[in-house]
Amino acid sequence: MKTVFSGIQPSGTLTLGNYLGAMKHFVELQDDHNCFFCIVDQHAITVPQDKAELRKNIKSLAALYIAAGIDPEKSTLFIQSEVPAHAQLGWIMQCVSYIGELERMTQFKDKSDGKEAVSAALLTYPPLMAADILLYQTDIVPVGEDQKQHLELTRDLAERFNKKYNDIFTVPEVQIPKVGARIMSLNDPSKKMSKSNPNAKSYISMLDDEKTIIKKMKSSVTDSDNSVHYDKENKPAIANLMSIYSLCSGKSYEEITSMYEGSGYGEFKEDLAKVVVETLNPIRERYEELIHSPELDDILDHGAEKANRAATKMLAKAERAMGLGRKRR
Ligand code: TYM
Repeated sequence: MKTVFSGIQPSGTLTLGNYLGAMKHFVELQDDHNCFFCIVDQHAITVPQDKAELRKNIKSLAALYIAAGIDPEKSTLFIQSEVPAHAQLGWIMQCVSYIGELERMTQFKDKSDGKEAVSAALLTYPPLMAADILLYQTDIVPVGEDQKQHLELTRDLAERFNKKYNDIFTVPEVQIPKVGARIMSLNDPSKKMSKSNPNAKSYISMLDDEKTIIKKMKSSVTDSDNSVHYDKENKPAIANLMSIYSLCSGKSYEEITSMYEGSGYGEFKEDLAKVVVETLNPIRERYEELIHSPELDDILDHGAEKANRAATKMLAKAERAMGLGRKRR
């Protein structure tokens, strides 16, 4: 059985983009893969965080994972900081990374752009991500488009380590969805949908209620052409809404186009809001049940235990391969 690993940062409520680009696929993979899903709190602290908020967000993300369909009986769900081997192998991965390649990462460039004080960890973020993945002999990493460059670097680091020391790491494949790999902002289709956008109308949160979803969908930008058809180049806003529609309803672009032939954007947006509500409502309801339940802590304890067992073994292998520590009698 192939191993899957992916992570999500606990840095605020997830968006529909996180769900359609990543989480939805995690759920699909768990039936026939050995899955590890991580709450990457150590990645979150590469930018300043309020400690009470961070605590809340970690728990909230755990509940969301489960509410979205991650089954703790099938998948290992855990918090990164509860498995020390991540930071430990992260250090080793920093030692095989070059500053130049880290500085070329677009996420680093975007997040550090114009800032006076940038943490060193923002630069060394990708080696920690590589450690996350390599600790579990991961075959497949399902992510959205924005993580592709980090995954390429992970592959390079694994290959570099294998060649230089000992061939111990599985070189992972990235898996990016064909539709929904980059869900765009609702009010600017040139920007990625992101929870860090200060304008809440630009994104749908996974926990938005029906009224909010309808309102946000209504105010989403379109174009003046009034025709529902998929043309990413010339009609990026409609193309984005169509991909959301398609993923939430299971309908193809052709089906959607023929449904709204001659009827314009009003009806299309109304129905789009409906299918998004149908997708997110059950998740929100399950989330409300879970968020204060003690069950959540048991799941995370169990997940950390399982992850620690696998990760500690791999870390020891990497340390031995590099000559760290003493030879055991
Ligand atoms: P993060 O927390 O920013 O996002 C989590 C996942 O959601 C995807 N995503 C999107 N997909 C489609 N459209 C969007 N608008 C959109 N926004 C976000 C992301 O691509 C991601 O898959 N560095 C990672 C977390 C991480 C990780 C890992 C991932 C840490 N270690 C190891 C995989 C493997 C991140 O910041 O994701």
